[in-house]
Amino acid sequence: MRKKIVAGNWKMNNDMAETEMFLVQLKKQVIPEEVTLMIAPAFTNLNHAFQSVREHPVTVVAQNMHQSDKGAFTGEVSAAMLKSVGVETVILGHSERRSIFKEDNELLAEKVNTALVNNMTVIFCIGEELSQRETDDHFNVIAEQLEEGLFHLSEAQWNNIIIAYEPVWAIGTGETASPEQAQEMHAFIRKTIADAYSNSTAKNVSILYGGSVKPDNAKELFGQEDVDGGLVGGASLKVDSFMEIANSLQ
Ligand code: G3H
Repeated sequence: MRKKIVAGNWKMNNDMAETEMFLVQLKKQVIPEEVTLMIAPAFTNLNHAFQSVREHPVTVVAQNMHQSDKGAFTGEVSAAMLKSVGVETVILGHSERRSIFKEDNELLAEKVNTALVNNMTVIFCIGEELSQRETDDHFNVIAEQLEEGLFHLSEAQWNNIIIAYEPVWAIGTGETASPEQAQEMHAFIRKTIADAYSNSTAKNVSILYGGSVKPDNAKELFGQEDVDGGLVGGASLKVDSFMEIANSLQ
């Protein structure tokens, strides 16, 4: 049975004081049993967040990592460093990493390998740009991101992969994919995985939707058969809206 997940990607938001305020409030919440709740603070706050929620059903996730084990890579953070502060899940391939930091599928495949060798779980982000949807290229783009980023993996390695479908045109724009558009793409992703591997692998992988998920649209999006939860940006910064979204997944 695949997991239902709501993950909050804080991006470059929330300093230590704001992180602490969030955690104090979060720990007072009743977290629905069937939902795996994740938060992805900045690197500087991962250690504190992990220690703070260790008695609570909250998974602390990193937003990125380097593909090498160690060395002269100024400003970078390795898988071993993340694991040393208790972090075992990492977001890779977010569209902001792809577009602003020029991370391509080849580099992302390397990062995925490094994460898996280190026994981490990967939330692998894929998504098309508006122009690609407008020229009807969105399915090809998604298939290519899957093939080049993930299809070198063995079937067993898929146990540690979560997919996040995030249409770039819906990220931080207030514009959301309609539930039908989300379902159509999630079903396509699952079928593409089934064709490359097997039905059981495809059935077991959680596919999250990301892109302006809010309390007022989460229920409808999460109600779609192949939508197993969300990767939430802006609305994950406040405990109230984050929990409303998590409760919509029940
Ligand atoms: O990782 C999260 C996504 O980029 C979505 O961000 O909810 O602010 O649109 P958003």
